[in-house]
Parts: sequence; structure tokens; C-alpha cells
Amino acid sequence: MNYNSGSQNGNAFSNELDTLIRQPITSANLKTLLTATGDLQKALFSKARAIRHENKIDHCLFRGVIEVSNYCQKKCAYCAMNAGNKSIHRYRMNAQEIVDVAESIFKSGISVIFIQSGQDPKVDGILEEAIPAIKNKFGSSILLCIGEKKPQVYQRLYSLGADSFILKFETSDPALYEAITQSDHAERMQCLNELRTIGYKIGVGNIIGLPNQTVDSIVKDIELALTIRPNFVSSSPFIPNQGTPLEHLPNGDFNLTLNCMAIYRILLPKCMVPAVSALEKIQKGGQVMGLNAGANVITINFTPPHYREKYSIYSKKRFIVSLDHAMKTAENANLTPVLNEGP
Ligand code: 5AD
Repeated sequence: MNYNSGSQNGNAFSNELDTLIRQPITSANLKTLLTATGDLQKALFSKARAIRHENKIDHCLFRGVIEVSNYCQKKCAYCAMNAGNKSIHRYRMNAQEIVDVAESIFKSGISVIFIQSGQDPKVDGILEEAIPAIKNKFGSSILLCIGEKKPQVYQRLYSLGADSFILKFETSDPALYEAITQSDHAERMQCLNELRTIGYKIGVGNIIGLPNQTVDSIVKDIELALTIRPNFVSSSPFIPNQGTPLEHLPNGDFNLTLNCMAIYRILLPKCMVPAVSALEKIQKGGQVMGLNAGANVITINFTPPHYREKYSIYSKKRFIVSLDHAMKTAENANLTPVLNEGP
């Protein structure tokens, strides 16, 4: 499919875009790109796809997620699994259950096992058992998203076979971060430093649509991602989650999120950028739009259904990505689905 209109008008916007992305990029230009609409936005997405192609990323990588525990020490106001929420049922999978789900991911042909959890100290020991078992049996890559831990824990899980770690900064604004999570932004950034020093590939990301967040603040999120130079970077729209202090807020802005993803692709060209399920939750076909804005990863949910419904991360009725949905989404975006990332 040719996304470029090829019209003179289209060319004018692509010239404007080339001027806007000239490096070193200014905050003012980032703001113009973030708020792009109409033909300028089309040129932004088209550039993101062109850069993805130039970097030989013509595929969409699938990874399989296991949500291993919904216990959490954190108090994030946007998340129903926050420590203060007494009204949800908590669960924690044991090592054997995790290995069994990993086996079903492996059998479906997917080579990246994504282990996600609330920030739950009791999960650490369970993963010390599960990670080597998964590694030995299936040789999968292991991506963790389990929160802030002591360096020794990060080190131990790395030495047992974990390869990558996602710890989103959520927002670059320490005051906003602290207001929403009641925790320290600098400590989170310190964790990222430790993860990188140990040798993990690292992933970061922001949420779009937090209360009191401005476009200037999102510009700073992008600038922070540029200084971190991560291996993975994501942007996710805020989803109001029932039973949280932010449940009455509107969804994060869909277009701001897509624009932010496209900017990440352009400025961090080799990064893995997921088209998150929250896009699909806000808008049917939202993940295809994410891929068309430059993303190249989809996460498929393998959490057993009786646990999955308790993992109330975005909202009680979150969008659950199946392998079939991911296949169709990749095909609709003209990307080859890749289950096995190879050696
Ligand atoms: N809206 C958007 N993103 C959310 N996350 C959790 N809850 C929400 C929500 N309500 C994201 C955070 C976290 C990741 C695991 O999920 O960015 O780091």
C-alpha cells in the first residue's frame, strides 16, 4: 500500500517535516510534531514508516506476556493494582504455573517471553526458579517488567537468564510522577542505570493524558528518552481505571500518543516500539494505526484467563490481544509477523 499521496501538497508537508526533524531537534519543533494534525501528521507517520524500512524493520515482532502477580507495593493513582486497593483479589503464580504458560508460548512459536508483574517482592524468588527452567527448556528470550528492585535482585535474575527489562519512566516530570505515584522519580531513574550497567537491554516509556500533564511535559518525555537511548520505547494513552482516584478522567489523547510513537521511531530509529493494547481499547483498529505510526512490536496475552481478569492494569475491561488478532493487525499494517526473533 502506498501511504504517500504523492501530491504537491503532500510533498510540501514532507518538506516541512524534514525541516522539523532536522537534528539537533529543538523543543519547539518537537511540540509542533507532537500536535501535528491533517497532512503534517500524515507526513510524520509516513516518515516514521520510511525510517523503519530504512532500518530494515519490515516485520512486527510478537512477544507473549505472562502476568505473574497482581500484588504491588506501589501506589500509582492510575492503576487498580495499587497497594491501597483492598477491593481486588490478589494472586501470585508459582514457578511451575509460570513455566507451564511459558511452554504454551514456546509451542505457539513465540520466542520472547515477557514476564510482567506488580512490584511484588515475593515474585523475585519465584522467578529465580522459573527463569532458569524456561531458559533451559525452551531457550526463550526473557523480558521482565516487574518494577523497582535492589541491584542484587536485578543482577541475580540477569545471571539466571533474563535479557531485557522494561521500567517506564511514565513521565519525565519528577513532581508529576511523585504526585501520581507517591514515589521518587530519581530512584526509578537510578534503577534504570543499574539495569543498564548490569547488561540488560532496557525499555522506557511514557503515559499520555495524566492529570495536569502538558504538551511541553510530553516534549520533555521525548527528550528524556533521547538521553537514555533505550532499546525499547513506548507511549501509551492513559486509560481511566475503575476503583482508582483517576477513574473519572477522560482517556489519554489518541493522536498525541500516535504522534509521540512516530517521533520515537524517527529519533530512535532502531528501537523496538510496541503498539500497546491500550490503543485498541480506545479505538477499534488502534493497534494497526500504531504500527502505521512506526511501531513494530505486539504483545500477545497468555496469562491464564482466571488470573488475567484479576490483572486489572488498564481497566477491568481491557483489550486482550490474541495471536489471531496480532496476526491480522500486522497484516493490515503490511508487516510480516515474526514470532521467533532468531539468534
Ligand atoms: N493507563 C495507561 N497506562 C497504564 N499503565 C498502567 N496502568 C495504566 C493506565 N491506567 C502502564 C504503566 C506501567 C505499565 C506496566 O502499564 O506505564 O508502567
